[in-house]
Amino acid sequence: MSKLCIRGGKRLKGDVIINGAKNAAVAILPATVLVDGISVIENLPNIQDVRILNEAMRSLGAVTQFTDEHTLEVDASTVYQHSALAECISKMRASYYLIGALLGRFGKAEVAMPGGCDFGGRPIDQHIKGFEALGATVEVHGNIIKAYAPKLVGTRIFLDVVSVGATINIMLAAVLAEGTTIIENAAKEPHIVDVANYLNMMGANVKGAGTDVIRIKGVEKLTGGKYTTVPDQIEAGTYMIAAAITKGDVYVRNIIPEHMESLSSKMREMGIGIEEGDDYIRVTADKELKATNVKTLPYPGFPTDLHPQMAVLLSTATGVSTLIESVFENRFQYVEQLKAVGAKFTVEGNKATIEGVEHFTPAHLHAMDLRAGAALVLAGLKAEGGETIVHNTKYIDRGYEAIEEKLNALGADVYRTAH
Ligand code: UD1
Repeated sequence: MSKLCIRGGKRLKGDVIINGAKNAAVAILPATVLVDGISVIENLPNIQDVRILNEAMRSLGAVTQFTDEHTLEVDASTVYQHSALAECISKMRASYYLIGALLGRFGKAEVAMPGGCDFGGRPIDQHIKGFEALGATVEVHGNIIKAYAPKLVGTRIFLDVVSVGATINIMLAAVLAEGTTIIENAAKEPHIVDVANYLNMMGANVKGAGTDVIRIKGVEKLTGGKYTTVPDQIEAGTYMIAAAITKGDVYVRNIIPEHMESLSSKMREMGIGIEEGDDYIRVTADKELKATNVKTLPYPGFPTDLHPQMAVLLSTATGVSTLIESVFENRFQYVEQLKAVGAKFTVEGNKATIEGVEHFTPAHLHAMDLRAGAALVLAGLKAEGGETIVHNTKYIDRGYEAIEEKLNALGADVYRTAH
């Protein structure tokens, strides 16, 4: 398995281009099942989860073709299967979107249970509640979820927790249902709006995505079209933080600056320069960084997927910061790894208290999930006087396209080795 080796202490400078959003891509690809025609999806990130979903779509009978490394054509008119049971599917979180999409298209779905990063319990009761409200019967047999319905009929669904996955999944199941579905207490993340925009471009009638009430008027059929995936808010945030911890000067390009507001405002509070253009943010950090307090929340709050990266940034500030995780039960597995480079943490329940330190020391680190893996790379960029080795890069590669190339183009010294 490959490792990333980082000789830290280099000031990052230059431009980095952000790819399409992983969490939008992994929902839009299953959504193509609903289309009786060809979807051309542009600006897909070139990452493992996209490749797995491409294989899954093919196994369902879709005819797919990458026309370049970021564009996939999916002809789903040939889809005939309602079962997605391959082992690779059960390894990713987004496999659950195949349930909503197959149920919507065929009135039946059989999908291997979703996996993904381990942050404690990640129930899918709200997805199931939504499918049942639409008229489906849902059964869980071991590792397999089965859902079926003679027909799906629109209804009002109130989500008990604000869930990205449940909001999108119910939307997928409802676009071809009879009548109108109203999702209340819906999640508002940019990728929810993106999935709704994609579905609308294909002929669906989804209104209110991006607010907490989404109205879906069922239509008879979705036809094909071309769609460009929204930029990745989390990849952008990771490079913004990389610029700040290395006291750099970086233009993070091909983004929607408004999506970055919760991070940008925290970085400004810390004394970091944030200059916004139409589709870029310039990050400059030449002063001492001030400690601050951060709490993760559903969008537009501070994203839980930037929590571990933010922990690294707070570790480089002067003074004591706090970081509260309020979305997932357990997102602190990275703490022991960061302690190995010299970060000072205490964690009680869902709250970390972080005392800033001036220097990190190189160490051997082990990625345990995707975003924590990215945080360890950031720690390596800061650690001077040797090589920081980040093991288990498979987690990082699930969400970051060409991470070492992008960092090296900014002046970092990162290389990958197989041993
Ligand atoms: C998605 C993202 C993930 C991100 C998370 C929060 C994808 C593929 N993954 O994950 O990167 O960290 O949103 O922004 O897009 N919950 C329930 N019951 C449910 C569903 C969720 O109790 O049926 C709880 C979860 O345990 C969690 C909270 O709701 O505490 C939010 O989870 P959710 O927004 O659903 O996250 P995911 O869709 O799994």
